Amino acid sequence: MTERVHPDIEKVLISEDEIRAKITELAAAITGDYGDDGVLLVGVLKGAFVFMADLARSLSIPIDFDFMAVSSYGTATKSSGVVRILKDLDYEVTGRHVLLVEDIVDSGLTISYLLRYLKARRPASLEICSLLWKQGQQAVPFEVKYAGFVIPSVFVVGYGLDFAERYRNLPYIGVLRPEAYGGESPR
Ligand code: PRP
Repeated sequence: MTERVHPDIEKVLISEDEIRAKITELAAAITGDYGDDGVLLVGVLKGAFVFMADLARSLSIPIDFDFMAVSSYGTATKSSGVVRILKDLDYEVTGRHVLLVEDIVDSGLTISYLLRYLKARRPASLEICSLLWKQGQQAVPFEVKYAGFVIPSVFVVGYGLDFAERYRNLPYIGVLRPEAYGGESPR
């Protein structure tokens, strides 16, 4: 498919077709692992909403949906590692198979906080599915069982990921032109 690239995008890192193919692969692995037991998908807002919608539509096993919204304390460029919950789960996760769905694992601070938080509620199982993974950037390593693409440490937007709330609707993952964020890279 020919993509019209947004003028603020310097380079398309992962195309729409590549994302689609990867989601098919991830969905096959998830389907094989959970089967008829099904799984509760927990999306981490806002970034994960696009990926979660496409992933869910590729799964034919029983799935339920829940969402959490979190924000990191800290400055725009440096997270303190303390996460504030803006929206908690609607459902109990005790005894359930839970799959945390993220758009990106970067420093890993968000997901490691959520892992601790959810583990305390004693789910039957708890795994991570992230479209993007900046492998090796995390202070404390943990397993991303379903990882879409391992990417280098560059700031990316699109397919749910934003800069100042923009670009989430781009159908691909791209690198912003420096002019678009006014100088120093946000990450
Ligand atoms: C992004 C992303 C992850 C988190 C990953 O969310 O959606 O939740 O950062 O970064 P980390 O591994 O360094 O913790 P963000 O806080 O930008 O909010 P958003 O999803 O609403 O865009």
